[in-house]
Amino acid sequence: MKIVIASDHGGFELKQNLIDYYKKQGINLEDLGTHSSESCDYPDIANTLTAEILSKRADLGILICGTGIGISIAANRHKGIRAALLYDDFTAEMAHKHNNANVLVFGGRTMKTEDVIRRIDIFLNSAYEGGRHQNRLDKLDA
Ligand code: RB5
Repeated sequence: MKIVIASDHGGFELKQNLIDYYKKQGINLEDLGTHSSESCDYPDIANTLTAEILSKRADLGILICGTGIGISIAANRHKGIRAALLYDDFTAEMAHKHNNANVLVFGGRTMKTEDVIRRIDIFLNSAYEGGRHQNRLDKLDA
């Protein structure tokens, strides 16, 4: 599974922490930027990452801004993107089982690295349930 990750300046530190952590686990998160803590605009970051998902060059995306809110709004403007702000462990599970999220979103100024890692693991260890949920996902993109 190819996973891409991107953040604005508000999520830069958390992004680097996640890349470092998963590298030690032997998992490569492909870094789409930003590459410093200099101020940048989260819609640009969301546009870059969602293009990778929609073109199927990547299977899953991780997006981070200060709160996770702005970059969620930006990502979900793209038809076919299901960006979920994983604000707790239950949400991390449901985002896969019910929403089949293809972009996981976090807040660099609102969440601890260890909580984010645990939520990513919960998401990856859950499975989409399909069935009635697929009817709902189909309506999102209709
Ligand atoms: C940037 O200062 C901040 O507004 C952004 O990272 C994000 O939190 C927006 O929702």
